[in-house]
Amino acid sequence: MTQSDIGLIGLGTMGAMLALNIAEKGFPIAVWNRTTEVTHKFVQSAGDLAPKITPTDTLADLVAALKTPRAIILMVPAGQAVDDQITALTPLLDDGDMIIDAGNANFRDTNRRAENAAQGGPRFLGIGVSGGEEGARHGPSIMGGGKAEDWNRISHILEAISAKYQGTPCATRMGDAGAGHFVKAVHNGIEYADMQMIAEVYGVLRDGMGFHAPDISDVLAGWNKGPLQSYLIEISAAVTAVIDDKTNEPIVDVILDRAGQKGTGRWTVIEAQHLSAPIPVIEAAVMARNTSALLDERCKGEALFGPAPQEMPRSTLTIADLEHAMIAGKILCYAQGFALTSAASAEFGWSLPLPEIAKVWREGCIIRSSMLNDMATALAEDPSRNLILAPFFADLLEKSHNALRKVVANAALNGLPVPALAAGLAWFDIMRTGRSTANMIQAQRDFFGAHGFERTDGGSGHHGPWAMQG
Ligand code: 6PG
Repeated sequence: MTQSDIGLIGLGTMGAMLALNIAEKGFPIAVWNRTTEVTHKFVQSAGDLAPKITPTDTLADLVAALKTPRAIILMVPAGQAVDDQITALTPLLDDGDMIIDAGNANFRDTNRRAENAAQGGPRFLGIGVSGGEEGARHGPSIMGGGKAEDWNRISHILEAISAKYQGTPCATRMGDAGAGHFVKAVHNGIEYADMQMIAEVYGVLRDGMGFHAPDISDVLAGWNKGPLQSYLIEISAAVTAVIDDKTNEPIVDVILDRAGQKGTGRWTVIEAQHLSAPIPVIEAAVMARNTSALLDERCKGEALFGPAPQEMPRSTLTIADLEHAMIAGKILCYAQGFALTSAASAEFGWSLPLPEIAKVWREGCIIRSSMLNDMATALAEDPSRNLILAPFFADLLEKSHNALRKVVANAALNGLPVPALAAGLAWFDIMRTGRSTANMIQAQRDFFGAHGFERTDGGSGHHGPWAMQG
């Protein structure tokens, strides 16, 4: 039997698609699933690719089917299932064999697993894979974490299966241990924020300006030809154009407004709080998802307070205002995401390559967009500079932040919730204010707790004469 280049455990949707992708790129692959029937059905349905795929019935068979040193990808649900699989595989593997967790792991779990691997046992890589089912099948974006020598051993396979941006593979090692899964978490936080900002603008169009779904689709399709060109705008234009078979209404109008989540956006927010890195647009997006789940309470709120007034004269806002508000919101959100990445890099000693992160997101992943290429350029000029200060983006913000202000103000006056856009605007206004109001916070802290303050004319550890004048 020809030995396979790589093994894969877990033939759920993503695992199955990734296995087909690997086989299609010419790498013989052995697969195993907890349910043997799933394994065999998968190979039977693989068509022309079946000869490249070896189904195995036991973990021992899987291990025996692989070239040494072995490399085995795990595509199982994040959390305990990954630990269980590592525990089951470890006794079957030899020194130098490697386990690759390609699920949406929490980077802290990946750090722990990498640490365990360093103590002995199989080598370990944690790779973030983005792009959903289609991406896994035809080219995902891959964010790697682990030792360089381990990454280098399988990078030819990962690069071959990844998406390509003008020929450049979207598969990059971000750093040691959990670095790849951390970058994937930031990706997902931005994914939540991008989706939420689109949903907010959709809400202004629908509830404030009386647009029907097909008209909203046209607006979004138009934006997809300009600076907002992105996968998420493209699919939002697509979903608003689709009609429900049962009701003959736009499908988006019959979908319940309660958003699900697996929790990766929440991890991003938790880590940002640990790192004192402000990511208010992402925080607002996570808050909005959580609040969407409170459907009963929202209905009670509407019954008690009445629906918010939602009739803004069409003359108040233009489609161009909304487009520019989205451009500003997007820049602010990504600036926060990259600043969080910088903070994590310093804290965890990773040297995360910010321009390479922007590059790896240019194709294959859910947040792919034309703006990411400009972000890669700006970050390459000076990775330590906040993106809003880079001339290209500063110029775009100059041209768009007043539209953001107009959209947020009008939405507020008309009772339309736009929390992510508003959070972006508030952060922007803080970031453009040299003399903030934190002097008041410092005075209060010193008054009630003698915490001391710095003076504008120099020195720290000062106290106010509160007792005398209080
Ligand atoms: C991707 C996505 C993916 C994620 C889904 C669902 O990059 O392909 O981020 O990994 O699992 O988007 O995420 P939620 O259930 O949290 O919305």
